[in-house]
Amino acid sequence: MTAPLRVALAGLGTVGTGVVKLLAANRALVERRAARPIQVVAVSARDRSRERGIDLSAFEWVDDPVALAARADVDAVVELIGGADGPALPLARATLAGGKAFVTANKAMIAHHGLELAAEAERTGAALKYEAAVAGGIPVIKGLREGAAANEISTVYGILNGTCNYILTTMEKEGRGFDEVLREAQQLGYAEADPSFDIDGIDAAHKLSILASLAFGTRLDFGSVAIQGIRAVEAADIAYAETLGFRVRLVGVAQAGAFGLFQRVHPCLVPLSHPLAHVDGSLNAVVAEGNFVGRLFFEGRGAGEGPTASAVVADLIDIARGEFGPAFAMPVESLATLAPANVGAREGRVYLRFTVADKPGVLAEITAAMRDAGVSIESLIQRGSAPGGGVYLVMVTHRSPEHAVADALKRLEGSDSILGAPMLMHILDF
Ligand SMILES: NC(=O)c1ccc[n+]([C@@H]2O[C@H](COP(=O)([O-])OP(=O)(O)OC[C@H]3O[C@@H](n4cnc5c(N)ncnc54)[C@H](OP(=O)(O)O)[C@@H]3O)[C@@H](O)[C@H]2O)c1
Repeated sequence: MTAPLRVALAGLGTVGTGVVKLLAANRALVERRAARPIQVVAVSARDRSRERGIDLSAFEWVDDPVALAARADVDAVVELIGGADGPALPLARATLAGGKAFVTANKAMIAHHGLELAAEAERTGAALKYEAAVAGGIPVIKGLREGAAANEISTVYGILNGTCNYILTTMEKEGRGFDEVLREAQQLGYAEADPSFDIDGIDAAHKLSILASLAFGTRLDFGSVAIQGIRAVEAADIAYAETLGFRVRLVGVAQAGAFGLFQRVHPCLVPLSHPLAHVDGSLNAVVAEGNFVGRLFFEGRGAGEGPTASAVVADLIDIARGEFGPAFAMPVESLATLAPANVGAREGRVYLRFTVADKPGVLAEITAAMRDAGVSIESLIQRGSAPGGGVYLVMVTHRSPEHAVADALKRLEGSDSILGAPMLMHILDF
C-alpha cells in the first residue's frame, strides 16, 4: 500500500473536530479517492483537558502548535486556529519553509499574508491550500483556480458571510429590527459574541480580496477593499426594498479592468430577478463572469463543521494525490499590480432613505439638491414614520456617477429638514 499522508491538526474547535469526524466517517472512501490513507498523527489546541466529543487517543498531543511544523512524522499541517497573526502565521511560515504541505481555513491570514506564504510555498515546492477559507464548503477556490482557469474573469461577486445573510433574511421574513435579530442569532450560535468581524463586513472583505486575486490574476489587496457592514440597515429599508422589487443582501463585488481594481463589500438592493436575491439564511453564493464560460453561480453552505471540514479534506486529498499548483493560480511574480479604481467615476443606481422633518418644502429641497448635482430620480416613496420622530423619504436614482450622488448628499449636509444620516445602498445591476 502507498504510504499514508501524515497530517498534523492545529486547532480542534468547530472545524478541527469536524475534520477528525469526517476522516473517521469517510475513511475508506477518502483513501480510495486519494489512492492512499490520510492519517492524523498529531494534534494541538489550547486546552488539553477540554471535552471535544471526539476520540483523540490515537493522536499525539503537542502543546505548541508551531512545533508541529518541524516533526519528522508529519507530511502536511492543517491550521484551524484562525487569526491573521497569533500562532497561525508562524506555523504557516515554518511549515512551508520546511517544504511541507499547508492547509488552512483562515481567510484573515490569507487576506493579509497570502502573497508572502504563496511565494514561500513556491520557493520550497510545497503545497499551500485554502479552499475552506472562502465560502466554507463551496468549492469556489477550485472552481476559479482550476475550472475557470482558461477564462478572463472581469467580475466576481457574492454573498460571502452567512451570519449577515441569516440576519438580513430573518429581518426580511419576520419584519423585525436588526438589534433584535442579531441578539437572537447570538443566542442560537449563528453569530459570535463579538459579531463585529461579520456584521461590519470585514470577514466578507477578507474573502472578497482572495477571490479577486484568483479571478483576475492580480496581487491580493485587502487594504483597498471599501467596506460597509449591515448595522445601519433598518427593517424599514428591507420593507421599502421589497416594495421596489428588491431584497437587501450584503454583497462583496470585485471588478478589474482599464479602470483598475474595484473591491467593495456593502449592503445592496438585489433585484428579485437575480439569483442572489434567493440565497437565504446562512447560505453563501459566488458569481463569476468569464469571457468564454459566461456566468458561473456557486451556492452552498459557507460555514459550519461539516461543510468546512469537507473543503479542508478535499485539499488534503489533492495533496495526497500530488495535485497542487500555485496558490493563486499563477506564480506570485506573474500576478499583476492593479491600482485601486476611482470609485467616484463608477455609475449605478442607488437607494437613498432620508429621515426628514414632517413639514412643507422638504421634498423640494432634496429634489433640488439632486437636480443641482445632476442626479435624476427613478422612483420615490414618502410614507411611514421613523421610530425616533420624523418621516421617511425613500428614493431610487437613475444611473449616475457615484461622485454626483456624493455631491447631492453634500449639498444637503447641515439641512435642518434632514434628521440623522441618510442611508445609501447601491443597486446590484449586473
Ligand atoms: N467555524 C466555521 O464554520 C468556519 C468556516 C470557514 C472557515 N473557518 C475558519 O476556520 C478556522 C477555525 O475556526 P473554528 O470555527 O473551528 O474556530 P474555533 O471553534 O474557535 O476553534 C479554534 C481552535 O484553535 C485553538 N486555539 C486557539 N488559540 C490557540 C493558540 N494560541 N494555540 C493553540 N491553539 C489555539 C482552540 O483551542 P481550544 O479548543 O483548546 O480553545 C480551538 O481548538 C478559522 O480560521 C475560521 O475563520 C471557520
